[in-house]
Amino acid sequence: MSWDPQGQRVLITGASSGIGAALAVEMARGGALVGLAARRGDRLRQVLADVRDAGGDGWCWTLDLADLASVAPFAEQAWAEMGPIDVLVNNAGASRRRSMKRLTPDELDETMAVNFTGSARLTLALLPSMLERDSGAIVNVSSMGTQSMAFRTGAYGAAKAALNLFTEGLYFDLAGTRVRAHLFTPGATATEFSTPKPGNDDPFPQPPDALMAPVDVARALIAKLGNDDFEGFAAPALRETAQAKRADPNGYLERMIEMMARR
Ligand SMILES: NC(=O)c1ccc[n+]([C@@H]2O[C@H](COP(=O)([O-])OP(=O)(O)OC[C@H]3O[C@@H](n4cnc5c(N)ncnc54)[C@H](OP(=O)(O)O)[C@@H]3O)[C@@H](O)[C@H]2O)c1
Repeated sequence: MSWDPQGQRVLITGASSGIGAALAVEMARGGALVGLAARRGDRLRQVLADVRDAGGDGWCWTLDLADLASVAPFAEQAWAEMGPIDVLVNNAGASRRRSMKRLTPDELDETMAVNFTGSARLTLALLPSMLERDSGAIVNVSSMGTQSMAFRTGAYGAAKAALNLFTEGLYFDLAGTRVRAHLFTPGATATEFSTPKPGNDDPFPQPPDALMAPVDVARALIAKLGNDDFEGFAAPALRETAQAKRADPNGYLERMIEMMARR
């Protein structure tokens, strides 16, 4: 069954670039009203202009998910301004490429806040209103790092793995209601995500043809809303990788360590 964005109110975090920005425009093309949140207000306003060019409309707010105390008040504001939110997409995330040999406690805390706790708090803040209406969907954007290997991404992978189980908990506990929880997993995507940044180790060199386009990931996420399965991937090959690791975790990790040693 396909999901129809027409008339849906969709709140998207991490909407100032990459997958979130592409998702905002794709949702708007389908007739959704979009709420956009991230830290960079100038980039959000540009995405909102793109949304309007695509025939849609929406709102934007600056939000720093690492500022945990600001998350619940933000949820209240977004619900008040947008009206009842039909879909929350917890898409915001930030890479932390750092060998576990050098990871600092502050880097660990910040990585967890941005990639897990902020999104979990936003979910908890909106969930009672969704349950009261007995309607809504929460899409948590994870990472193939939780399904393949955590090479120099132990903290980021741990945060996304926490998001995976948080989503699984939601999926169980929402059974019997009309509020749905979806786990959506992209693989390597051509966004600003892997741009070198201070404090991060160098990213993997990725051949350009190994990267998905953000718009294709956005379309896969919209397609995922059309089924009630727990887990969806941006491409079938990603599901196959996840299944290969689940079938033989020791052998899979051994092969990955050998592959990384050859690089
Ligand atoms: N690209 C990939 O290869 C890849 C692979 C697997 C999973 N993912 C996941 O896909 C999602 C989208 O990433 P992307 O690839 O589109 O990368 P991106 O272009 O860097 O987008 C990340 C978004 O998250 C926002 N963000 C970062 N820190 C934030 C904070 N503290 N508070 C609020 N918003 C924050 C950024 O906006 P501001 O900087 O304006 O705050 C930006 O809008 C992330 O969850 C990422 O983990 C990406």
